[in-house]
Amino acid sequence: MTDETAREFSTVGVIGLGTMGAGIAEVFARNGYTVIGVELNDGAVERGHQHLEHSTGRAVKREKMTAEQQAELLGRITLTTDMKALAVADLVVEAVVESLEVKKSIFRLLDGIVRDDAVLATNTSSLSVTEISTANSKPGRVIGVHFFNPAPVQNLVEIIRTVVTEPSVLEDVQGVLRGLGKNPVVCGDKAGFIANTLLFGYLNHAVSMYEGKYASREDIDAAMRFGCGYPMGPLALLDLIGLDTAYEILDTMYKQGRDRLHAPAPILKQYVTAGLLGRKSGRGFYTYE
Ligand code: CAA
Repeated sequence: MTDETAREFSTVGVIGLGTMGAGIAEVFARNGYTVIGVELNDGAVERGHQHLEHSTGRAVKREKMTAEQQAELLGRITLTTDMKALAVADLVVEAVVESLEVKKSIFRLLDGIVRDDAVLATNTSSLSVTEISTANSKPGRVIGVHFFNPAPVQNLVEIIRTVVTEPSVLEDVQGVLRGLGKNPVVCGDKAGFIANTLLFGYLNHAVSMYEGKYASREDIDAAMRFGCGYPMGPLALLDLIGLDTAYEILDTMYKQGRDRLHAPAPILKQYVTAGLLGRKSGRGFYTYE
């Protein structure tokens, strides 16, 4: 259901086409938006393209979408390395790595490119939206929109409003997200927002339990799936999230003064250093084909 007072958006830019960015681009294209996906170089554009093909191809295989619908959907997405292509976007969603400096440099760059009335959103999972917004000359037009992985499937999107986010920007974003069939919740700008604050202490605890050889990875995961009805166990979920992303989230939350539950379990850092990043690298707590 779309909010009747919300402004009409038709073109959405997505910066960064990793797991989250590609998923976000797919969500908008599925809902009829024209999408401009921007990546750093041709290799990253190609990976983004493969991600989109793979994800929509899965829907075709499951007969949730025809091959024609897939082609139409992909046809609504243009991938480029040229940030200037975002000049026509109503909404830009930044979904690059969890680095404050990288995100700030993007919001700085957007200044000279986007329309005055464009809404600028960051998909950060734990960094300060306020601090990211200060890199842009219109911080009131900056907001957090935090999608969950896999973005095409998970209905939750956290909207993070800063103390200077314009009320109309919040209303517009709520309207757009509801129109996508998402369930937006609104919160303030504190590391972890709502869901990760509650989730990551639990995930980190599961890693410590595994690291301490208290139980096998399969048994830890089975306990939460079959005992508590979670769709995935914590270690399989960490592999889905990406161990590098999970480490960064925990580290940021810990540094912002939360309790010891958020001090990243040492083995998590070791896995990341060794390049075991979860599903995206083929190996994390589990191994993937
Ligand atoms: N991309 C697109 N679609 C996907 C997908 C992906 N990566 N993975 C699964 N799907 C789709 C499937 O195509 C299928 O769609 P249909 O029902 O339309 O056929 C549906 O999801 C169910 O998939 P499966 O039957 O293959 O598997 P499943 O029933 O076990 O579900 C799951 C898989 C959706 C990932 C489910 O296990 C789940 O919800 N897990 C928990 C995920 C979760 O907690 N995410 C939040 C992580 S925290 C986060 O993201 C925040 C952060 O900042 C890190």
